Amino acid sequence: MRVLHSITSMQKISKEFQRQGKIIGFVPTMGYFHQGHLSLMLQARKDTDKVVVSIFVNPIQFGPKEDFKRYPRDLKRDLKMVKDIGVDIVFCPKEEEMYPEGYKTYVRVKELEDRLCGRFRPGHFQGVCTVVLKLFNIVMPHIAYFGQKDAQQAIIIKRMVKDLNIPVKIKVMPIVRESDGLAMSSRNTYLNKKEREDAVILYRGLQLAKELVKSGINDSAYIIERVKKFILPKITKIDYIEIVDYKNLLPLKKIEKEGLLALAVWIGKTRLIDNIILRNKKNI
Ligand code: PAF
Repeated sequence: MRVLHSITSMQKISKEFQRQGKIIGFVPTMGYFHQGHLSLMLQARKDTDKVVVSIFVNPIQFGPKEDFKRYPRDLKRDLKMVKDIGVDIVFCPKEEEMYPEGYKTYVRVKELEDRLCGRFRPGHFQGVCTVVLKLFNIVMPHIAYFGQKDAQQAIIIKRMVKDLNIPVKIKVMPIVRESDGLAMSSRNTYLNKKEREDAVILYRGLQLAKELVKSGINDSAYIIERVKKFILPKITKIDYIEIVDYKNLLPLKKIEKEGLLALAVWIGKTRLIDNIILRNKKNI
């Protein structure tokens, strides 16, 4: 496993892999790995000849009052965690090289970027798309892996790839959960013991929604209200709970076939997101 810091050395190696006819799998991350990250890397290992993982806490996807400074970072720990997974290259670019003085170019995926999390984190998806496109140009992967936990991110990146004819296949992998159901996230480390116990309510709320749909209820407003009531005693604040169309992220009045229930809530000072795809089996 090689650790690279410079953009030109990464590009040089990727070009060499391409010349040798190797298939490159790429897992972009902000580090502080958990099993969710590892599941993406393991899938890349299965699918491709060369696995590249990037670690870069991307400043431009954080708002001015968000947790950029506090975001957990521990390269030593991360390298230890992936050393037996079969990762070929860990690419950790420097902020000054990614965004040198005079940097002016940004990518936006209109409308999709304004929905769900975009309403509460203005500029977030512009920051994500910009860094992901830069990383694609540097790593030149054939397949890139993203987690379903950031469902909106995955949808937006797929749109960007399609719209800009970027020659990469996007694979979205299932959410990896702790044994009690909490979706894995580097931000879970912010939770104290009580908050961590309370956080399981999110998964249970999603399961409640699933049960309601299974029992024949397909009215989104009713399902959302029930989930809200159920989780409220354990959480601090709701940013949103919505049931949306999986392609355009617009709210669905009824779940005719399937809908994405996505939520973002605060537990103490920590913002957590989670989601589930609700399927109305009667119509599928
Ligand atoms: O999902 C993440 O960790 C980040 O948004 C990503 C895709 C690595 C871009 O910084």
